[in-house]
Amino acid sequence: MAALRAALCGRFLQPLSVSFGSLRFASSSFKAADLTIEKSNALKPKPDPSTLVFGKQFSDHMLTIYWSEKGGWEAPQIKPFQNLSIHPATSALHYSVQLFEGMKAFRGADNHIRLFRPMLNMERMYRSAERSSLPLFDKNELVQCIKKLIEVDQEWVPYSSDASLYIRPTFIGMEPSLGVSRSGHALLFVIVGPVGPYFATGTFNPVSLLADPRYVRACRGGVGAYKMGGNYGPTIAIQAEALKQGCQQVLWLYGEEEEITEVGTMNLFIYWTTENGERELITPPLDGIILPGVTRQSLLDLAREWGEFKVTERKVGMKEFLDALKGGRVREVFGAGTACVVCPVGSLLYKGQTYQIPTMQNGPELATRFFKELTDIQYGRTKRDWAPVIV
Ligand SMILES: Cc1ncc(COP(=O)(O)O)c(C=O)c1O
Repeated sequence: MAALRAALCGRFLQPLSVSFGSLRFASSSFKAADLTIEKSNALKPKPDPSTLVFGKQFSDHMLTIYWSEKGGWEAPQIKPFQNLSIHPATSALHYSVQLFEGMKAFRGADNHIRLFRPMLNMERMYRSAERSSLPLFDKNELVQCIKKLIEVDQEWVPYSSDASLYIRPTFIGMEPSLGVSRSGHALLFVIVGPVGPYFATGTFNPVSLLADPRYVRACRGGVGAYKMGGNYGPTIAIQAEALKQGCQQVLWLYGEEEEITEVGTMNLFIYWTTENGERELITPPLDGIILPGVTRQSLLDLAREWGEFKVTERKVGMKEFLDALKGGRVREVFGAGTACVVCPVGSLLYKGQTYQIPTMQNGPELATRFFKELTDIQYGRTKRDWAPVIV
């Protein structure tokens, strides 16, 4: 029986795992050309960039695009920023039929506004929609709608070379029913707001991490590779536990070998010398439990272009990492994500013992180089097609 079930799973689950509803929605999408714009006549004052707190300030407008099974996609609308009105049984509220993205727009010294590799975010959002049984859309049309929103709210993109406009595309199931089933109604919306520098002092502040193998962020076969709200809510209590133990963030471990997976809401990189004496940059592979970060991809692309050291995507367990640390072979450990670009790690609390990571002792040479290269591209100081001008 078990063999039959395994055979059936092998036979049927494989093809199903890639189709998740794409057949049903593949051909239709909203179109940026149909966008309507209703301007706000009560514009808010813009905050001083030096006082910005992440995620608390929002611009004057938002983008909304409604979908229903019967009517398909409606025309996209840009309208004054406002509350949503939703049915109390809405599936996003009960069953986390919800996903989001996080990206930024930057104002360069040339006063042009640029997005950073926006199609990578759109591709990730599309995959999350597919996995959530939400309707699919044309990724390029969504980028065009987002560009239009930023054009309308362009004064909200800070006039600063270390602040930016955070963009939060969000997609929710709006089925007004308690059945656990595919949503027949959905809403894709985008809100934006200015955010300040992650490192306010202008220098890197290394973070301390709690690594507790009792907790996992994601599991194989689950949805950790997708940017769904349900992956984040449950981490808040563990983050609070880290703070209680005097650490700033969580290092997420997984499985019997205590694989090092991610740090907080960032991908993780280790720069070390291998047992053979080679310099190597290493990050966990995209095997289902890692969020495919745009920053992660960008650091890998840059490092491979440089060709100065080995660049590897593979699993690293705590034992292998601690052996390298004790052997003096670890040079730097850092997180990578849209919020901070790179975030150096200074120490690790694991099974009651604190381990110092020599990241700052080493400069941090590589983290600093990545930070400079990426921010130069984002703010247009280095011209590259990764950061096209949008306004
Ligand atoms: C769990 C997790 N890992 C990694 C990242 C970094 O991804 P990105 O570089 O696309 O911001 C994020 C942030 O989006 C995240 O939430």
